[in-house]
Amino acid sequence: IDPSLAKTPQMGWNSWNNYACNVNETVILDVANAIVSSGLKDAGYHYVNIDDCWSVKAGRDNTTHRIIPDPAKFPEGINGTAAKVHALGLKLGIYSDAGTNTCAGYPGSYGYEQIDAESFSEWGIDYLKYDNCNNLGLQGNATVSSTRYKRMGDALKNVSRPIFYSLCSWGTDDVWDWGRSVGGQSWRMSGDISASWDSVVSITGQEVPIANISAPGGWNDMDMLEVGVKNSMTNTEYMSHFSIWAAMKAPLILGNDVTNMTSDIKKIIANKEVIAINQDPLGASVLQRWIKGNTQLFSGPLSNNSYVALFLNLGNSTATMSATWSDIYNSTTVNSKKSIPVRDLWEQKDLGNSKGKISVSVEAHGVRLLKLSGRA
Ligand code: GLA
Repeated sequence: IDPSLAKTPQMGWNSWNNYACNVNETVILDVANAIVSSGLKDAGYHYVNIDDCWSVKAGRDNTTHRIIPDPAKFPEGINGTAAKVHALGLKLGIYSDAGTNTCAGYPGSYGYEQIDAESFSEWGIDYLKYDNCNNLGLQGNATVSSTRYKRMGDALKNVSRPIFYSLCSWGTDDVWDWGRSVGGQSWRMSGDISASWDSVVSITGQEVPIANISAPGGWNDMDMLEVGVKNSMTNTEYMSHFSIWAAMKAPLILGNDVTNMTSDIKKIIANKEVIAINQDPLGASVLQRWIKGNTQLFSGPLSNNSYVALFLNLGNSTATMSATWSDIYNSTTVNSKKSIPVRDLWEQKDLGNSKGKISVSVEAHGVRLLKLSGRA
């Protein structure tokens, strides 16, 4: 674990949303090559993460007690795959579980934390997603849940390789209160996302009351992106999903088949100005300022005295939304006449200066994501 790895939310790709258990070296290398050739690496996506189902299901090696990578899926071992991923300038992530078995029934790390951390370090692993299934009932309060996660956190601290520690803890026992203390650099704050607009809206609502907890060093993980996964949403909904995750400083872990994506999807996930909001060094999430009918305003500070405003329309028809400086800057003592330059981050276009308020038209299920250069 190296704290400098979590200065901003982590960015990468994970196999689960698109491939589920059908993961193997070919998939990982095809994806890694596509991340480079499509420009996603240059856009900041550096982790290529293997999710569940990468090992032999039957059990550990009898003498070393190590988990055995499935030779049919990873013929050269995980270290072989890691070498090839590293040669592309990318990092490799893996998955295990803070229980006896993973969610798909493969060996978990409970009781074997140090042995597994050593395997991961030797293989060249850079990132561990650590799940919560089959946990022997060791949950129900922060102390017992955090103990299981701390065992792996301590094990990772004992190995030579810096490994990003991602808790897949589903919000269990208010993980946002203890995730940092066990070495976690991000922690899942909800159950699993699914490829649907309703799921995006639901996770957003669950994040609202805890959004202030994300900060450099540790992030609320709103789960992997569904942008472009199985044509599940409209492009407008995908842009909203990506905007919310970016502005709430959630990890940006892609889930789509990057080897075969439309130019619309690529444009969404590679939008440099939206990614820059997520990666802003201040690391402060937007907060919800108000709800009016089906519309919601979020805003928050950026570095260089800038601000970001996210106008979200959950309704089924276009809405006109207006926000004053005191709404956006969350203060009653603003200079309500101040003129501030506004930029539309999706259109990558300056909208000119606004004085005292902003009014925008927002599509059904859409957002407007605006950057304000200055404070009122
Ligand atoms: C859990 C996790 C998912 C995924 C699956 C794999 O449901 O929350 O993100 O890793 O397990 O089995």
